[in-house]
Amino acid sequence: MAMPPDQTIYVLNGPNLNMLGTREPDTYGHATLADVEKLCAEAAAQFGLTACCRQSNHEGQLIDFIHEAHAKKACGIIINAAAYSHTSIALHDALKAVNIPTVEVHISNIHARESFRHHSFTAMAAFATLSGFGIDGYRLAINGLAAKIGAKAKA
Ligand code: DQA
Repeated sequence: MAMPPDQTIYVLNGPNLNMLGTREPDTYGHATLADVEKLCAEAAAQFGLTACCRQSNHEGQLIDFIHEAHAKKACGIIINAAAYSHTSIALHDALKAVNIPTVEVHISNIHARESFRHHSFTAMAAFATLSGFGIDGYRLAINGLAAKIGAKAKA
């Protein structure tokens, strides 16, 4: 697929991910959201892409970010909708509405945890899901997204 003119990817993080670093470190590690966003900026830059990183604890705000990605002609979305992954048909519908190549990321392995985490509505609107790689999942997701949209690694 040819690269779209705008080379921004949106990295969206949902509720409680602003607490990374201190939140349940046995499950989520010690890295902070700032660490995640730095990692994403660096991973995206390797493909000449710019990462626009947003976090919200509010479902409607996350929907607005998805619409913003569409308005800004973003070429990809990385989303960790956190608990809303498991509950939000509205987020699923927003992702389907904008039709932007999307990868879902979970820091923990949601399939090795409580059964209420095993289903993801947002994953149904993504072309791929990464779960259980810790924050490295964001880098892997950006690599996979770059391959999907035909963004080449910079020399
Ligand atoms: C999470 C997994 C979700 O089940 C949980 O509600 C989160 C974080 C993860 O990144 O592992 O908040 O999305």
